[in-house]
Amino acid sequence: MNHFRSSISANNAGLSSSDINNLISIAREASLIGGRVLMENYGRLTSIKDKGRIGDLVTNADLAAEDVILKFLKENSPEIAIIAEESGSSNGNNLLNWCVDPLDGTTNFAHGYPFFATSIGLTWNQQPILGAIDIPYVKENYWAAPGHGAFCNNQLIKVSSCNELVNSLLVTGFAYDRVTQINNNYAEFCWLTHRTRGVRRGGAAAVDLAFVASGKLDGYWERGLAPWDLAAGIAIVDQAGGSISDYPYGEFELTKGRVLACSPGIEKVLKNELAQVKPLQGDAYGAPELQDIRS
Ligand code: IPD
Ligand code: CA
Ligand code: CA
Repeated sequence: MNHFRSSISANNAGLSSSDINNLISIAREASLIGGRVLMENYGRLTSIKDKGRIGDLVTNADLAAEDVILKFLKENSPEIAIIAEESGSSNGNNLLNWCVDPLDGTTNFAHGYPFFATSIGLTWNQQPILGAIDIPYVKENYWAAPGHGAFCNNQLIKVSSCNELVNSLLVTGFAYDRVTQINNNYAEFCWLTHRTRGVRRGGAAAVDLAFVASGKLDGYWERGLAPWDLAAGIAIVDQAGGSISDYPYGEFELTKGRVLACSPGIEKVLKNELAQVKPLQGDAYGAPELQDIRS
């Protein structure tokens, strides 16, 4: 075992290399199964429902993909607990967990915008160990496991060598509580847009992390995320040589839902910049209701 956080977690979990080989095959197959169901439903949705918060949707594709993924995981690893976005937890309490996002990027999917993914991560005691992210529209399957490294399909991937913020291309996202939270990442988005080649808003956290792992993007930060958004992507960025932390300070914790995942060459400067950001004033949003929430 080596210094990768995912490798240390696998070691702590007592997983042998043959356990890891078996588990990463299961994760990859589960992500591909999910990706296939998503493509079968892409452009022909029969149901789009609101889950409550503005923009937080669930479609028949989320439910259909989750259904087949859970069946597959339960059949192939009955001893491992599951946390899945649409149906909650199953298999009781266990330190070893599958974190399943059947459709990450539901809003994109519902609008026919092709950035969406199935994400399957394995954690031990809330620490990501391995995972797979299938982005079916672009036919890319990202995966990583301790002792293997990180891959896109069969190609080894690594994070970019970017070491100047001004030359970086970043990505971020805005959680569904953005309308009711003044600390909603809009200020950070402005601040870093001003100091980089640009900040993308992809709309699917798993895709954002996969693109950082493969060096297409140099860094990603976001708050308000769930374990199923993060588990697989964190393991993949880690095995691809990326830095993973909370921001602007602190250690990454899956349950905090805040992450900075980036190329090591820009970690320090990104944290320094994020530490300087102050929330925008209410009237900067052009949304009077935000002023009410602030007062
Ligand atoms: C969302 C996406 C989005 C992120 C949100 C997530 P969903 O997941 O990953 O990029 O900004 O915070 O909840 O709802 O499409 O599975
Ligand atoms: Ca998600
Ligand atoms: Ca989802």
